[in-house]
Amino acid sequence: MKLFVPIDAQVIAVLIKVQSRGRNNKEWRSGMDPYKMIIACTNQKGGCAKTTTAVNIATALAKGNVSRGISPAKVLLVDLDPQGNASTSFGIPTSKLDRTVYDLLMNDLGEELPVIEDYLIAPEVIADSMKEAWKQQHPNKKPPTEMVELDKEGKIVSSGVENLWLLPSNIQLSGAEIELATRIGRETRLKEGLASAINEFDYIIIDTPPSLGLLTINALAIANWVLIPVQTEYYALEGMSQLMNSIKLIQRRINPHLKLFGIALTMYQNTNLGNTVSEEVRTHFEKQVFSTVIPRQIAIAEAPMEGAPVVILKKPNKRNKGSHAYWSLAKEVSTRVNKLRRKFGINETSKLQLHKLNNSD
Ligand SMILES: Nc1ncnc2c1ncn2[C@@H]1O[C@H](COP(=O)(O)OP(=O)(O)OP(=O)(O)O)[C@@H](O)[C@H]1O
Ligand SMILES: [Mg+2]
Repeated sequence: MKLFVPIDAQVIAVLIKVQSRGRNNKEWRSGMDPYKMIIACTNQKGGCAKTTTAVNIATALAKGNVSRGISPAKVLLVDLDPQGNASTSFGIPTSKLDRTVYDLLMNDLGEELPVIEDYLIAPEVIADSMKEAWKQQHPNKKPPTEMVELDKEGKIVSSGVENLWLLPSNIQLSGAEIELATRIGRETRLKEGLASAINEFDYIIIDTPPSLGLLTINALAIANWVLIPVQTEYYALEGMSQLMNSIKLIQRRINPHLKLFGIALTMYQNTNLGNTVSEEVRTHFEKQVFSTVIPRQIAIAEAPMEGAPVVILKKPNKRNKGSHAYWSLAKEVSTRVNKLRRKFGINETSKLQLHKLNNSD
């Protein structure tokens, strides 16, 4: 049976325009640093796995996996959603935070740019909060080895995500859309706030809220890539032309370097509907769609409760399909990035290596 999948009529035309911007070599060479990998995980559709995808990719890229050919990278995950789900995925108690992305966006301290380190949660703190969340759920069970590293005496020495920093968010951010409306530079406040961090990280991954409001615009103003998670269900492509139009508007008015990085199929179930929707998305978006399909799996949904992303909690193997799929997606992301860097002759030392050199005695 062939199911009809709703798709906005303009979506293909708009997509072609969005993609064609990325094919202009001159544009790359003139204004854009291809080493800069700022990826906004965006779709105004709610619950399509934006946060889950941002959190798992950021973690997998930070951790790296040599046997899979993913070099560890220095990664900043920006939680730009008032729901704070990306932060709570690591067990961060968001209501107790002194500073969040809200304070960074609202910073109006004269001409001084904010000191970004003051706003970030460091890897050691993320590690502690993951351990705490695990302990609360499993008082008598050791955390998985992927979550912590033990020394010879079995003492915990470091986290499994030592290269991941987090710019957290909480419910306070829900007022930002209205508060920003009257502020100068309302669309580029995140860009200004993160200016000093851009050259410090190999990847900056931004989780955005389910809307195309000012917060998402702030993400698209600083990003050079958009990753769109699409849930493989009936209304999957509805609203896609609106999203593509927003990207096009941002390209024209605020950020000419913004491009589509890829589309990730999420929450896939091997049903007639799941297969038909996946096929439709591949037909319309062709190579833009990642080969990896993220299956619907309870372990992925349970992971935030245990205070760590599924790529850390579960070993990527046939039994743990969710972890396996997100590791594969991270591999595809890093392969695309390496290909782009090769194409533009970029052979820079990674920011992680520089960070380690600067911090060694
Ligand atoms: N592959 C999956 N299998 C099962 N559950 C999943 C999967 N991916 C995400 N979920 C669950 O689905 C819900 C929505 O996912 P998520 O929060 O990542 O979506 P979102 O797009 O960020 O949502 P929002 O638009 O509210 O920000 C969550 O409860 C999450 O744990
Ligand atoms: Mg979310």
